[in-house]
Amino acid sequence: MKLGTVAENPLEWALLRTGLVPTPLLDTIIALLLARAVMVGTKLGVFEALAAGPLPAEKIAAQCEGHPAAMEKLLSALTGAGYLRFAAGRYRLAPVARRWLLKDSPHSLYDAILLQLLDARFIEQTEAYVRSGEPVHIHEEMAGEEWALYQRGMRSGANLAAAEVALRVRLPQGAHDMLDIGGAHGYYSVAFCRRHPNLRATILDLPQAIEYAAPLLAREGMGDRVVHRAGDALTAELGEQTYDVVLIANLVHHFSDEANRDLLCRVARALRPGGIVILGDMIRPATPGAGGQIGALTDLYFAVTSESGTWSLAEMAAWLRAAGLRPRRPIHLITGPGAGLQIAGKPALPAQRSVSQPVDTR
Ligand SMILES: C[S@@+](CC[C@H](N)C(=O)[O-])C[C@H]1O[C@@H](n2cnc3c(N)ncnc32)[C@H](O)[C@@H]1O
Repeated sequence: MKLGTVAENPLEWALLRTGLVPTPLLDTIIALLLARAVMVGTKLGVFEALAAGPLPAEKIAAQCEGHPAAMEKLLSALTGAGYLRFAAGRYRLAPVARRWLLKDSPHSLYDAILLQLLDARFIEQTEAYVRSGEPVHIHEEMAGEEWALYQRGMRSGANLAAAEVALRVRLPQGAHDMLDIGGAHGYYSVAFCRRHPNLRATILDLPQAIEYAAPLLAREGMGDRVVHRAGDALTAELGEQTYDVVLIANLVHHFSDEANRDLLCRVARALRPGGIVILGDMIRPATPGAGGQIGALTDLYFAVTSESGTWSLAEMAAWLRAAGLRPRRPIHLITGPGAGLQIAGKPALPAQRSVSQPVDTR
């Protein structure tokens, strides 16, 4: 999957093949404008205004409290970009907007798109990062409302893959205790617990995250089957032989190699024999270019905003082996382009030998 220049007629197709189309301009100014139009349209409520049916521009401007002529420019941009349709003086939602951008859609990415307004500010720091090697450290720099936006955005993003992850990961038989490290809104644990009625989960996250994640988890109505615990994954005591399943989704890209090795040693101790740990994240290509656009660009993004960037499957497997765990074959997620799972199991205790019958030596 990649973002790119797509020809709209046979002449353009032929031109593209000659290499004479100025694709760097489309990759920059057009990509920037497209991103901004979708984010602003979402924030101003343009898509929500059209949820019930087509409207003329002036009605949309009134509902979204926008300037009528300026709103027409945005609507026209969104129509050209394929998010709206225009006919007989009225705009309506294109299927892509109805499926992904309406608040109440079961696939809604509404809050994830709003979070990208904050991401756009962090991405501004790319040049400073490349010059200095100093990332933004988002978890230290975000303030109140930004934490709320972050948590809502993460919850919305989890709509994409939570069901697939819960479906594709085989849990140990009889699993009943799960720890979800950096689990935020807890939606991955909710998906596992809905699928496995005997499972209960603890979500470990920073206190500033839990303040805003708790109402999102409460909405799921899981009661005491999915609960929060405030703590720092870098230092928290995780216990000994306490959990059957430990999930670490979209967290290791925030931590250094050393911190991840240390975390996984504590996780290995916290697992019961036969238990599993699931590392879920964007996967860094093993060599530059091998993972394509999404793998490479998200590695840069996480490096700008955190301690490390994404990790390759081989790097994750090495941490797991060093912690005494046995990596399984990785799973590439269908619902999350560029994302995957590296799972590992803690060896089960050897079966107890039955007391042997006395041998008759006569
Ligand atoms: C990118 S979000 C992932 C949330 C969730 N696991 C998911 O995949 O949707 C990272 C989460 O890790 C939490 N986090 C970051 N540093 C942490 C730390 N040192 N200890 C515990 N949680 C941490 C953040 O607060 C945030 O909720």
